[in-house]
Amino acid sequence: MVTFSDRPITRLEDLYGEGHRSAVEKLREAVDKGYFIAVLGARRVGKTSVVKTFLNHYGYKFLYFDLSPYMGLRAVSFQYLIPAEIGFNEKVLSSEAQLSLALISLRIKKVKLTGEVFQANMLSLLRELNNKYNRFVIVFDEAQVLAFVKGINYRGLLQFIHNNYRNIVVILTGSMPGLLEKIISPISAEEPGFARYIEEIHVPRWSREETVNFLKEGFKNKNVSFREEELYEVYEELSGIPGFISYYGLLRLRGLKHEEALAKTENYAISQWENDLKTFLKVYNSPLYIDVLSILAKTLTGATWSEIEDELERKLGRPISKSTLHRILVNLLKAGIIQKQRGKYIIIDRSLKKAVNKLDISTKHL
Ligand SMILES: Nc1ncnc2c1ncn2[C@@H]1O[C@H](COP(=O)(O)OP(=O)(O)O)[C@@H](O)[C@H]1O
Ligand SMILES: [Mg+2]
Repeated sequence: MVTFSDRPITRLEDLYGEGHRSAVEKLREAVDKGYFIAVLGARRVGKTSVVKTFLNHYGYKFLYFDLSPYMGLRAVSFQYLIPAEIGFNEKVLSSEAQLSLALISLRIKKVKLTGEVFQANMLSLLRELNNKYNRFVIVFDEAQVLAFVKGINYRGLLQFIHNNYRNIVVILTGSMPGLLEKIISPISAEEPGFARYIEEIHVPRWSREETVNFLKEGFKNKNVSFREEELYEVYEELSGIPGFISYYGLLRLRGLKHEEALAKTENYAISQWENDLKTFLKVYNSPLYIDVLSILAKTLTGATWSEIEDELERKLGRPISKSTLHRILVNLLKAGIIQKQRGKYIIIDRSLKKAVNKLDISTKHL
């Protein structure tokens, strides 16, 4: 069934698209094998939907930490890391473990929760969960935020779970590449580090056919009259990102005509991209990202490495190192913000191009 929603999908029958469904299958295989997993993809492509659908469909017991509200912060208190969802019956726990869970959920106001207390309670809770269930899942949604958490050692915690709690698996989702590696790389060179055993699952955009069929099915029996060309236009404009396509679908169901719905969705997409770019800038702490993007936003068919290099040098008035440019391009590629086609780097999203241009203009006037 096709559902237009502005919330993550949680039911397999509502999860549309080959890539999304196969991501759920891959998750199941990896969880069964006991691997730690990184679910990667652009913003609004459906990472949260894939993970929630997986948990819901197979009925695994879980704890779900949603870090997405803190994505733009460079310092996050561990006290924000309360579980957003508790996917098992707390009553089955010993009273000691119930207390630990209440503590880390900040339900007990009388105790002063230090980083150490938090960590000790988390570990003792997990020890019991590890003994009780033969498979237990912990999710950190938008896990790169962990790199900025103050007060507890998250890398140590993950490493400890990996080494000692065989029945627990951790699923990290991430849309800001380069940062997740910080969380999952070994603490010291001698330690084996669980990063080596991390299974990566990529959530793709929808294809043109998937986009068109998703909308068609969603409009069926709903009295929305549409022309086929309109749906192709939606794909061209929104480049297969489920979050935006679903938004357009919702507006059509509410009675808006194609032009109006698409224009509204475009505005929404531009403002969302603008937020993402600002977050990106804050977190990566480098204006070069916007410089590179603004070079690409001005081209129709993208630019080669050396074209970007030349243009950047001209703009900055100084040369830029190969490794810096490499890092920027790789992070942008992995974040799904740019693509590489026939040797050229390109921004395929029209709304993203517009957001980049807006931001470029506003930063020039600072
Ligand atoms: N496979 C899918 N089928 C239907 N709707 C989807 C699908 N994937 C994402 N969506 C819709 O797109 C929006 C963004 O999805 P979400 O899972 O929050 O993305 P992410 O976590 O990658 O940012 C949600 O409102 C959801 O309803
Ligand atoms: Mg998400």
